[in-house]
Formats: sequence, C-alpha cells, structure tokens
Amino acid sequence: MGLLDGKVAIITGAGRGIGAAAAKLFAEQGASVVVSDLDKAPAEEVVGAIKKGGGKAVAVAGNVMEQSTNEALIKAALDNFKGLDILVPAAGFCNDKVIQKMELEDFRLMVRVHMEAPWMLCKLAYPHFKELSQDGNYRRVVFVASEAGTHGNAGQSNYGAAKSGAVGLMRVLTKEWLRIRVNCNCVAYGFVETRLTQSTSGQQILGANIGIPEQSRQMGEQFMMLRGGRILTPEEAAGAIFALAIPQADGVNGQLVEVDSGIGL
Ligand SMILES: NC(=O)c1ccc[n+]([C@@H]2O[C@H](COP(=O)([O-])OP(=O)(O)OC[C@H]3O[C@@H](n4cnc5c(N)ncnc54)[C@H](O)[C@@H]3O)[C@@H](O)[C@H]2O)c1
Repeated sequence: MGLLDGKVAIITGAGRGIGAAAAKLFAEQGASVVVSDLDKAPAEEVVGAIKKGGGKAVAVAGNVMEQSTNEALIKAALDNFKGLDILVPAAGFCNDKVIQKMELEDFRLMVRVHMEAPWMLCKLAYPHFKELSQDGNYRRVVFVASEAGTHGNAGQSNYGAAKSGAVGLMRVLTKEWLRIRVNCNCVAYGFVETRLTQSTSGQQILGANIGIPEQSRQMGEQFMMLRGGRILTPEEAAGAIFALAIPQADGVNGQLVEVDSGIGL
C-alpha cells in the first residue's frame, strides 16, 4: 500500500534534481507519473528507473514554455493513466546577473518558465479537475518557488520576481479552486544540491548560462553553515512536495512552506 495509490501526477522538470526525486518517490508510493523534461534522455532514464522498481510512468519531452507541451502533458496523463490528480510544475532554471547587467529578455525568460508555464498547465488542467471533482476527492497543485523570491537574493531580480509570482498564483488558485477541491500549496527551497546550484559549468538552457559562480556558491554554503543549516539533497526537497500531495494532507491549502533546514527563520 502506497500513500499515493491510484493517483496520477504530472511532474515537470522531472528529468533531473528535485523533479526526478519527486517522480521516483511518487511512483514508489503508488502514483502513476508523467515525467516531463526539456531533455528526452534524462526523462526516459527516470521512467526506466521507475518501471524497473515496478512503478508506472511515461516520459514526455518538451519545453514547458510552449502551450503544446502543456497540452501533451495533460493528454499523456489522461490517455495513459485515465486520471489527473496532482500537478507539480517544477521545471526551471536561473540566469543570474545584477540588474545593471541584466537585459529585459533575461527577465522575461524567467517569467516565462517560472510563472507562465505553471499558469498554462493549471489553465489546461481546469476543465478536467472540474469534471473529476465530482468523485469527491481532493486534488493538488504543488508549486515550486524559491527563497530568492520570499527573502531575496542578489543577482536574481528576474528569478526571484518570477518565483514570487508563482506564490501569488498559488494563492489566487487556492481561492478560485476551493469549490472544485483542488488544494494549491507551494514549496520554496533554500539551497538544494542539483545541477541548478553547481558552479557555473558552461552549460546552457535555452541560451541562458546555468549554475552559479563558484564564489557565490561558497559564500552561500558558508552562510548556511554559520547558521547551523545545510544544503539539502534532492530527495529531502522532494519529500516536502510529497508531504503536501498525500491525501492525509487534504486539510492543508494555500500554504507556502519554506524548505531550507531552518535557516530562513
Ligand atoms: N536547487 C535549488 O537550490 C533550488 C532552490 C530553489 C528553487 N529551486 C527550483 O526547483 C526546481 C527544480 O530545480 P532543480 O534544482 O532540481 O534543478 P535541475 O536543473 O536539477 O532540474 C531542473 C530540470 O528542469 C528542466 N527544465 C528546465 N527548463 C525547462 C523547460 N523550459 N521545459 C521543460 N523542462 C525544463 C531541466 O532540463 C532540468 O532537468 C526549479 O523550479 C528551481 O527553480 C531549486
């Protein structure tokens, strides 16, 4: 018996990091998972690992900034698993620069991936959530934000603003979707060990340099250690998404949960 037996989840950005750990945990706990990522190979690897462990999953590759990808995700859930219970729009990256060096396009890119993409997925899910709500069960959206949005972080005016937008979206949809029993909550991470927080590696996503400068990473690490905190693993980060997605948390709605080992206080 798993805590998510019979549930159908869409997780974006699930080819790596927190999304991949969430997809594996959800599947271990009985959910059927649509594993979505910009990159096909890592998404298929995650699906392979889930199936090897006896779970159910399907990979859908595509850019979540495109409406067609979000349509394909909903279709994959309905066609393959005949349901739609949980959305986790986790796909994302950052593109850090101080504001005087940042172009408007750098800002808009973050708004597109962290605000517009979750908005699109939710909008497309609405008619299905409404129809399915007649079964009396609670459904979920777990948004993925950052303490760059809730507390601020130098060099991330684009990313922090966009992640704050995801918190606002969560709060509005909480109110709009009370009647159809879709609980909306949001996790905001501090520092999690993933590709996103590795030293700048020359890797790019859609033209943006990902990773953070080694000096900033070291400063972040020292700041945390001094306060008794630590860098979390993707599995620990995924645990918070899972905790908000299980039916035992049906009473939790409209909440922002900071996941940072306690240093954000
Ligand atoms: N790692 C952290 O410390 C941290 C902190 C705060 C918030 N977050 C957020 O957590 C989420 C997951 O990040 P992560 O740390 O696991 O990073 P990650 O780089 O390990 O994984 C992110 C995945 O998203 C995919 N992706 C990126 N843009 C996409 C797009 N446009 N369409 C489809 N897929 C796309 C990438 O290919 C990658 O596989 C992100 O939204 C990130 O902003 C992470």
